Amino acid sequence: MSTILLAGGAGYIGSHTAVELLQAGYDVIVADNFCNSSPQSIKRVEMISGKHVPLYEVDIKDKKALSNVFLKHNIESVIHFAGLKAVGESMEKPLLYYSNNIDTTISLLEVMAEFHVHNFIFSSSATVYGTENPIPYIETMPRGTCSNPYGWTKVMMEQILEDAAKADPALSVVLLRYFNPIGAHPSSMIGEDPTGIPNNLMPYITQVAVGRRDHLTIFGNDYPTKDGTCRRDYIHVVDLAIGHVKAVEYASHHTGTEIFNLGTGTPYSVNEIVEAFEQATGVKIKREYGARRPGDIPEFYANADKAKAILDWKAEMGLYEMCRDSWNWQRNNPNGYQI
Ligand code: NAD
Ligand code: UD1
Repeated sequence: MSTILLAGGAGYIGSHTAVELLQAGYDVIVADNFCNSSPQSIKRVEMISGKHVPLYEVDIKDKKALSNVFLKHNIESVIHFAGLKAVGESMEKPLLYYSNNIDTTISLLEVMAEFHVHNFIFSSSATVYGTENPIPYIETMPRGTCSNPYGWTKVMMEQILEDAAKADPALSVVLLRYFNPIGAHPSSMIGEDPTGIPNNLMPYITQVAVGRRDHLTIFGNDYPTKDGTCRRDYIHVVDLAIGHVKAVEYASHHTGTEIFNLGTGTPYSVNEIVEAFEQATGVKIKREYGARRPGDIPEFYANADKAKAILDWKAEMGLYEMCRDSWNWQRNNPNGYQI
C-alpha cells in the first residue's frame, strides 16, 4: 500500500487523519516541528491503530531536512497540515504567519518535484470565501476578502498550488476547505490540545466544563440570526479525517486542481452549541454575553454537495457525537497530552 506523508501530522486534524488512513490500509509517516503539538499524539495514534508511524522532527521549511525524509520512504502523496492557525496571533505577527505558512508550502512543492511525488492535499479553510460571498458557500465562488493574515495565507497558498498544478501537468492538487472541526476520536485518546487560552468555541466550552475556566463569554448576541448569536457549520473531526482518505484516493487518479468543501451543510448558533453540550454531557456551562469579536461573520456554512457527488463523502456524525467526544477527550485528558 502506498505511503502518505503528513506534514504537521502531529496536530489536531493530522493525528485523526493518521488513524483513518492507517485503518484504510495506508502507511503513514509524520513530519512535524511540534511548534503547536506533542509527539505524544503520534504515540497515541500507534496505540489506537496498532501500527508503527515513523515520526520525524523536521521544520517543513527546511528543504534539506525534508529531503532526508523523502529519501527514506517511497512517498506517494503528501497532506499539508503544517501551518500556524491562530487568527488573533496572525494579526500581531503577520510576517511569522506569511513566512511559516507559505514557505512550508513552497518547500513541500519543491521537494516533491525533486522526488517525483505528484499528489498534494492541502488543509484550506472556509475563511477563503471571505466576507462578501453569500451563504451557503459553494466551491465555484471566487475567493473573497479576508479579515486577517491567517486567512490571506490560505488564499495565497491556494493560488500558489493552483499555479503549480497549471505549470506541471503531472501534479494533482486537492484543496480541502474545512468548516469548523470539533470533537475528538471516540477512544478519547487523541483530541484538540490548544496551548494557552483557547481561541475557538468548543475547546473553551470544554475547559469551562472541566473547571479550568470560570465561564464562557459569548461574543455578541445582536447578530441578525434567530437567537442573535453567530451560526457556524461544525463538523466532527473524524468525519473530516475520513474526507482526507477520500481525497487521497481521488488525487491518485486525477491531475490539476480540485476544491472540496468539508462541512455538514447545517449551521448551529453559539447558544445551540452550548445547549447541545449541556444535554450530551449533563454538565452546565456558565455563560455571559460579551462584545462582538472583531472580524466575526454572522453566519456561514457549506454547500457540501460536491464532496458527496465526487468523493462519495458526507459527514455522518451529529452535534451529539461532536459534544460527547469533545467532552470525553477533555475529561480524560484534563491537561491535554501533558502527563
Ligand atoms: P494544529 O496546530 O493542531 O496542527 C498543525 C501542525 O503543524 C502542528 O502539529 C504544528 O506543530 C505543525 N507545524 C506548524 N508549522 C510547522 C513547520 N514549519 N514545520 C513542521 N511542522 C509545523 O492545527 P490543526 O487544527 O490540526 O490544523 C491543521 C491545518 O488545518 C492547519 O493548516 C490549519 O490552518 C488548517 N485548518 C484548521 C482548522 C481548525 O479549525 N482546526 C480550520 C481550517 C483549516
Ligand atoms: C475561527 C477563525 C477562522 C478559522 C476557524 C477555525 C476568526 C475570526 N475566525 O472561525 O479563520 O478558520 O476559527 O480554526 O477567528 N465564540 C464565542 N466565545 C468564545 C469563542 C468563540 O462566542 O470564547 C463564538 C465566535 O464568535 C463564533 C463561534 O463561537 O461565532 C465559533 O468561533 P470559533 O470556534 O473561533 O470559529 P470561527 O470564528 O468560525
